[in-house]
Amino acid sequence: MSTKKLITVFGATGAQGGGLVRAILNDKNSEFSVRAVSRDVNSDKAKELAALGAELVQADLAHPESVKKAMEGAYGAYCVTFFWAHFSPEQEAAEARAMAEAAKAAGVKHVIWSTLEDTRKMVPLHDDRMPTLMEKYKVPHFDSKGESDQIFKDLGVPTTFLLTTFYWDNLIYFGMGPKKGPDGVYAITFPMGDAALSGIWAEDIGKCAYGIFKKGPSMIGKTVGIAGEHITVSDMAKELSKAMGEEVRYNKVTPAMFRSFGFPGAEDLGNMFQYYQEFADEFADARDIKIAKELNPELKSFSAWLKDNLSKIPLS
Ligand SMILES: NC(=O)c1ccc[n+]([C@@H]2O[C@H](COP(=O)([O-])OP(=O)(O)OC[C@H]3O[C@@H](n4cnc5c(N)ncnc54)[C@H](OP(=O)(O)O)[C@@H]3O)[C@@H](O)[C@H]2O)c1
Repeated sequence: MSTKKLITVFGATGAQGGGLVRAILNDKNSEFSVRAVSRDVNSDKAKELAALGAELVQADLAHPESVKKAMEGAYGAYCVTFFWAHFSPEQEAAEARAMAEAAKAAGVKHVIWSTLEDTRKMVPLHDDRMPTLMEKYKVPHFDSKGESDQIFKDLGVPTTFLLTTFYWDNLIYFGMGPKKGPDGVYAITFPMGDAALSGIWAEDIGKCAYGIFKKGPSMIGKTVGIAGEHITVSDMAKELSKAMGEEVRYNKVTPAMFRSFGFPGAEDLGNMFQYYQEFADEFADARDIKIAKELNPELKSFSAWLKDNLSKIPLS
C-alpha cells in the first residue's frame, strides 16, 4: 500500500486543479499521491490524468454525498469552485460549503481553498461607482468566493486561503486575445486604464498550490496571494507585438463600456476590471511574486508565458 499522502483535487480536469495534479505526478519523488475528481471519469481528460498515475473518483459539487466520498481518507484537498458553469454566487457558496463540510467530516489535515477578494469590503453596495449586481454583489464571482472563506473558518477546517488572479490563458480560451479592428490593426481590449494587471499562467496556480502542500502545516490559517507578474495592458500589447512581429494596440475602454458588451458575465467582468484598476496597488500588494516564486521556482512572467503559448492564441 502506498505510504504517500493523498491529495483530493477538485477541478482536476480543469486549469487550476490540472496544474496541481501534473505538478505532483511529474515529481517522481513526491510525498503525495493524487485523487482526481471529475464528474465523468471516462472523459479523455480524466483518462489522461489516470495515465499520469492519478486515482480517479466521480463526484459532482452539486451532490454533497459524492463530495464526502471524494474526501474520505485524504490527507489534503484542493478546493476550487466553478462560477462560470452556472453564474450563480449562491451556488458557488454552496459548492464551497459542500467541500468544507466534507473536509471536516473526513478529518482532512490540509485544505487549500482557491479564493478571491470580497470586493464589497472596498466597494460597499451603496457605493455607486459601479452597479450592484444580482442585488447583493459588486463582483459576484469574487464576492461569493471571498465570503465563503468564512465557511472554512467557521467549520475549523485547516485551510490555506490561496488568492488567485487573472489567467493569461484568458487570451486563449476566454476570447481576450488580439482582434483586428476596422483599420486592420490588432488590438487587445481591456478596461484597465494605465493600471497594472496582476496576471498568472493558470498552470502556475497549481504549481504554487503544490508548493503550499509541500510546506505543510506552517501554511495553515495563512492567506497566500500569487501572481506571475503585475503588468500594464499597454506593456502586454508591446510584448504581444514583439512576439507576433506585428503591431498590437491596447484598446483602452472604460469599465462602463465593457459592462455594456452584452455577453454573459460582461457586467461581472466589467466590475471586476474596475476593481482591479481602482485597487491595483492593494491587489498587487496582496499577491507577492517573490512568495509565488519560492513556492514555484518555475513561475512564468507574461513574456515567458507568451513564448510558450503564442501559437495557441486564436487571432481574428
Ligand atoms: N479565468 C480566470 O482568469 C480566473 C482567475 C481566477 C479565478 N478563476 C476562477 O477559477 C474557477 C474555475 O477554475 P478553473 O479555471 O480551474 O476551471 P476550468 O478550467 O473551467 O475547469 C473546470 C473543471 O471543473 C469541473 N467541474 C465543473 N463543474 C463541476 C461540478 N459541478 N462538480 C465537480 N466538478 C466540476 C470540470 O471537470 P469535469 O468536467 O471533469 O467534471 C472542469 O474540468 C472559477 O470559479 C473562476 O472564477 C478564474
